[in-house]
Amino acid sequence: MDRTDRHCRYFMRLLAPDIRLYTEMLPAAALIHGNAARLLAFDPAEHPVALQLGGADADELAVAARLGETAGYDEINLNIGCPSDRVQSGRFGACLMAEPDRVADCVAAMRDAVALPVTVKCRIGIDAEDSFGFLSAFVETVARAGCTVFIVHARKAILSGLSPKQNREVPPLRYDRVYRLKAAFPELTIVINGGIDGARQVAGHLEHVDGVMLGREAYNNPGLLGTLQETFLADGDWVAPSREAVLREFLPYVRARLAEGCRLHHMTRHILGLYSGQPGARRWRRFIAERSHEPGVGCDVLTDSLDLMDHTSSSVSGTSGATSAGGSSGSGSIRPKSRGATAAR
Ligand SMILES: Cc1cc2nc3c(=O)[nH]c(=O)nc-3n(C[C@H](O)[C@H](O)[C@H](O)COP(=O)(O)O)c2cc1C
Repeated sequence: MDRTDRHCRYFMRLLAPDIRLYTEMLPAAALIHGNAARLLAFDPAEHPVALQLGGADADELAVAARLGETAGYDEINLNIGCPSDRVQSGRFGACLMAEPDRVADCVAAMRDAVALPVTVKCRIGIDAEDSFGFLSAFVETVARAGCTVFIVHARKAILSGLSPKQNREVPPLRYDRVYRLKAAFPELTIVINGGIDGARQVAGHLEHVDGVMLGREAYNNPGLLGTLQETFLADGDWVAPSREAVLREFLPYVRARLAEGCRLHHMTRHILGLYSGQPGARRWRRFIAERSHEPGVGCDVLTDSLDLMDHTSSSVSGTSGATSAGGSSGSGSIRPKSRGATAAR
């Protein structure tokens, strides 16, 4: 939430044409009672893109899933991993791991409502319920309702006393639990998540599971998505684009949204990590962040920012000098084609 909105996803897509992008969690009730058309709007370039829903009421989730299908999403994902108090007071998110039958009912209702794959994102456990038996019983029950894809954040959630941020840092990562889950349910697609921040780590996890989801690193260092596309997903001789090419390809999108009345900083706030790790990154970041708030500014902020950087350093993956952002068909998930890039229902 507050990260992978449509602007962020469009930008990420310029870096990696095949990585699967996920929306922020949208509560089912917000879609039903709010402005669904506005909340669900996205650019066709974002495909493949999954809509993530939050909720605990099967009927509401079914209606929201259908709204997502009509809007053109490629997958409906149910969030059973968020530990926030706000979400718990609506009794959804991670606390639902304690109610696998209810989650199964929700999945069944959503699957009846749409032809799209319905997937689940969960933790390895909650509070004292942190055994492998608890996780596997949850997955077995939900899989019986027809969910074949589980994205598992490899740490448990502690439902009282920790902030959502602490819940992404304090409980230890237990990757072995997720590997064991895949071994116990080889027929399911198991995607691992949590603390993964480089191509080498991704390759290591893919020895054990079917896919990898990145949250913070994808956002803070989006250039990594180009490297991951090049390493794990690209066919033939696709080369990751240069940062300059990505920025230039972002311009028409920014121009179009500005013409619709969108604020510049609502888009540029998502690109601040583009030069992460490069010389001059901090100066570039400050330039974009400060100038984007000035009244009356437009795309010139982005083009002017290019003068601050050295563009001899070529592609985001550091391999060669691709100048085009490539095909364009936002947290990103990698499921190599050989292991089933498309989630099956
Ligand atoms: C600011 C922020 C917002 C998040 N919002 C969501 C969300 O809406 N839905 C979700 O499933 N996970 C959300 N997450 C969790 C991430 O998707 C991911 O599970 C978690 O950060 C661990 O993965 P990472 O170490 O790769 O970031 C959020 C994380 C952060 C930092």
